[in-house]
Amino acid sequence: MVSALIDTDERFLAILDRLSEKAVDDYYNPYRVFQWPDTLPEAMWWMSPELTTTYGTAAAERMSREQLYALSKYESINFYSLNVHGIRELLIEVTKRIHTSGFETPSQFFHHFIGEENEHMWFFAEFCLRYGRKLYRQMPGASVSIPSNKVESTLVFARILIFEELVDYFNSKMATDDRLHETIRHINRIHHQDESRHIAFGRELVDILFTDVKKTATAEELREIEAYIKRYMVYSFESLFNPKVYRDAGVEDPQGLRRELLSSPGRPGFEQRVFRKTLKYLEKTGIIGDRTLSPL
Ligand SMILES: [Fe+2]
Ligand SMILES: [Fe+2]
Repeated sequence: MVSALIDTDERFLAILDRLSEKAVDDYYNPYRVFQWPDTLPEAMWWMSPELTTTYGTAAAERMSREQLYALSKYESINFYSLNVHGIRELLIEVTKRIHTSGFETPSQFFHHFIGEENEHMWFFAEFCLRYGRKLYRQMPGASVSIPSNKVESTLVFARILIFEELVDYFNSKMATDDRLHETIRHINRIHHQDESRHIAFGRELVDILFTDVKKTATAEELREIEAYIKRYMVYSFESLFNPKVYRDAGVEDPQGLRRELLSSPGRPGFEQRVFRKTLKYLEKTGIIGDRTLSPL
């Protein structure tokens, strides 16, 4: 049973109304809104260089400009592929809950959410298939599986929120990066616009669900929630470092490069930057006790 707070908290109800109204006002036809040129130029950044996994590392020093451009192309295809997989999983979870007991109140907002995410999945997949001729598969370990107990919904919506905030860190930077092609900027801009509503909603919902869990959870259960959430964050971050991307960009030892980058001195800083707002939020709600993240 989900908290009655979800049905009575006035702040939450007002935000739900406002976000649903905004979703109607912002509605666009995704199948018409984008220009899809036949090809995008190879000799340019496809992703802001600061967001690529080799940025500022010794590995980047060993690469030519052409190879860094190629890497940015495949990293961007990987980033949008991650979006496709993440969206499919969150759609399954939200669809499982819409109009079920305990989720009557947010169901109106869930309709917007499900509709918008379906469209996001379409335009991200379209980008990958047009310009990369493929989707990268999910990295193994994706099923940091969700324990099925009373905290399940809290973990599900915390995961969705973490995923959306990770993506939004990249989207909001690339939306305004003049070094990128307009098609790339546009996709990031549109997604950022929709996600700002989803993130605002997710932050309220997770807070309410966790407040309820806290009432009955033992100290041990709370520690498990924190460990689970942090594991999911680290898994999501490490998914950005895909050996298949390095192989496609012509790197000779893709697994070796992945290991090198994941243990490089710049890694903790990059991870903390990506999750800065998310960690602050999770700490404030009490879901995590501190902001340290340990590699998997
Ligand atoms: Fe989305
Ligand atoms: Fe979203």
